[in-house]
Amino acid sequence: MQAVVFDLDGVLTDTADYHFKAWKNLAASIGIQIDHTFNEQLKGISRMDSLERILEYGGRSNDFTLIEREQLAEQKNEEYRLLIASITPRELLPGIASFLRELKDEGLKIGLASASKNGSSILERLHIADNFDTIVDPAKLSKGKPDPEIFRTAADQLNLLPSECAGIEDAVAGIQSINGAGIFSVGVGVPPEAKADWNVNATAELTLGELMAHFKAKK
Ligand code: G6P
Ligand code: MG
Repeated sequence: MQAVVFDLDGVLTDTADYHFKAWKNLAASIGIQIDHTFNEQLKGISRMDSLERILEYGGRSNDFTLIEREQLAEQKNEEYRLLIASITPRELLPGIASFLRELKDEGLKIGLASASKNGSSILERLHIADNFDTIVDPAKLSKGKPDPEIFRTAADQLNLLPSECAGIEDAVAGIQSINGAGIFSVGVGVPPEAKADWNVNATAELTLGELMAHFKAKK
C-alpha cells in the first residue's frame, strides 16, 4: 500500500452536521422538512444532487427553474460557509492527526477525494493542508459518488494504481465509489451493506498497523 485517499466530511472532521443544519434550514424555507434519517442519503452527494434529492423528497421537483435551483444551492452554501468559518484544528476527528503523522512518517502519499467545493479551505482551517499530496477538484468531474471517478482520479493524480491505494469513507455512496475504483475500502461507521473491505466504528480506531494488516489480508 502506497497511499491513503480520504473523504473529508465525516472522516477528517464532522462537517456532516453543518451540512445537515444548512440543508434543513434551506429545505424548511421552501416548506420541506428533513430529518437525520433522510440526511444519511445526502452524505457524499454533491451540492446540486443533494438539492435535487430534497426537492424530490418534498414533491417539489418541478417547481423551480434551473436558475432558482442554483440560487437555492447558493443560499445553502452561504449558511454552510458561515458555520464552517470558525473551524479550528480542534475539530479534527479523534485519531486523525496521529494517523496522518503515521502515514507521513512511513512515506505514504495522502490524497483527498471529497465532493465538497469547500474542501481545500476546510483543510487549511484544520491546519492539515500541507499533509496532502493531491486534492481532486470536484468541479472537474463528470460524475459524483457513488461513481468511481473521484477515487480513480485521486489514484491517477498520485501516479499510482488503484490496487496500491486505500480509501476512507463515512458514506455508503463513498464506499461504492472506492470499491468501484478497485481501491481497498475502509468504512467509518457505515452499515455492513455498504461492503467496505474493513469497517471501523470511529476514526479513533484508524492506525497504519491495522490498516496494513487488513490490506494485506485481502491480497
Ligand atoms: C461532501 C458532503 C456532502 C456535500 C458535498 C458537497 O460530499 O458529504 O454532504 O453535499 O460534499 O459539498 P459542498 O461544500 O461543495 O457543498
Ligand atoms: Mg463523508
